[in-house]
Amino acid sequence: MVSQQKRALGWIEWLKGWLSLFYEILFQRIWACHLQNPLHLPHLHHLTCIVTGSTSGIGLEIARQLAESGAHLIMACRNTKAGEELIQKWQEEWTGMGVPLNIEVMELDLQSLDSVVRFARAWNARLLPLNVLINNAGIFSIGAPQRFSKDGYEEHMQVNHLGPALLTILLLPSLIRGTPSRIVNVNSVMHHLGFVDPDDLNLVSGRRRYGSMIGYTGSKLAQIMFSSILQKKLPSEAGISIICVSPGIVHTNIARTQPRIIQAGYQLIPYFLFNAQEGARSAIFAATDPQVSEYCGVLKADDWPTCAYLSCDCRPTNPSEEAHNVETSQRVWEKTLELVGLPSDVVEKLLEGEDFQCKYGVD
Ligand SMILES: NC(=O)c1ccc[n+]([C@@H]2O[C@H](COP(=O)([O-])OP(=O)(O)OC[C@H]3O[C@@H](n4cnc5c(N)ncnc54)[C@H](OP(=O)(O)O)[C@@H]3O)[C@@H](O)[C@H]2O)c1
Repeated sequence: MVSQQKRALGWIEWLKGWLSLFYEILFQRIWACHLQNPLHLPHLHHLTCIVTGSTSGIGLEIARQLAESGAHLIMACRNTKAGEELIQKWQEEWTGMGVPLNIEVMELDLQSLDSVVRFARAWNARLLPLNVLINNAGIFSIGAPQRFSKDGYEEHMQVNHLGPALLTILLLPSLIRGTPSRIVNVNSVMHHLGFVDPDDLNLVSGRRRYGSMIGYTGSKLAQIMFSSILQKKLPSEAGISIICVSPGIVHTNIARTQPRIIQAGYQLIPYFLFNAQEGARSAIFAATDPQVSEYCGVLKADDWPTCAYLSCDCRPTNPSEEAHNVETSQRVWEKTLELVGLPSDVVEKLLEGEDFQCKYGVD
């Protein structure tokens, strides 16, 4: 008998998703009251970190704090001029506080898979170890009509999932060189409202009516599913931990494309919202705390269905019920590799040191 495929979230899951979101808005401050702001970080001179989307909001704070703690920091951003200006400002503010910050900008536009391949090639060619990759850049174009990247993919899916997925895979050789290393994905509690149809990652089949909420939440769920399979594919000896985090509900520029009324809402509830520094804590914790890699090791040893997930209070939590669906996760993995133009056995090839072709980034 052919099993009937699920076509949307069940209404109980949907209700639970909304409750998770409202709980996070109402209680995040209480949950996270044990955390310092900013987090106290040890010296990180031994770390090389790439942070995507580091010109604004949460990514900007992550980048600044990691650099001020001594890490070699690469700001992967589409607006390189804004990145250079930030570096100049931070260096000036840092004058007299120690050795100059070790920070640089490299161009990355996640709307273009060619750009992702170019970035990864340029970084890998330096043959430097990479200890931390933070996939932070993301968009949430509330209320906008369905839009597609120049590669032809729905824009939330491309910027929040497909682009970061391609970047992660292509940077694996550098992450292996930097072992023990970590991949941190800045995810969202809103993935609880997400549903992914692997045969329709682009949301064009008409089976579900497009809305930016569907695009955003689905892209965040797809990221967890993809990360969970990657975690399984990487042997423990590779020494790479994968962690998804919720930053909380944070007052950043993510509301820039949202209707005025929503932007005004942001201003009205400042007590409940985290500022960017508070929102950066879970990603910084995931990138630097020694217990996090131990926790990832335990999940892997237990063959847990999902990768590690940290809540906005930096504590481990379970992602949504849908994220635990191993069969869908596997299909999301396969479809993602197909869409970003990589062979289905790319990880195995990488681990064996074999060459492989990517459809994108061909001159
Ligand atoms: N704010 C929240 O409440 C919240 C809650 C949950 C999860 N998150 C997640 O947190 C992450 C950071 O968001 P944020 O709130 O800090 O928003 P933000 O202030 O809008 O920052 C987003 C960053 O991503 C970059 N970016 C956007 N599109 C890009 C592209 N095509 N290529 C490269 N970089 C791109 C932006 O660069 P430009 O400056 O050039 O546009 C910016 O640096 C996102 O993944 C978001 O989904 C945020």
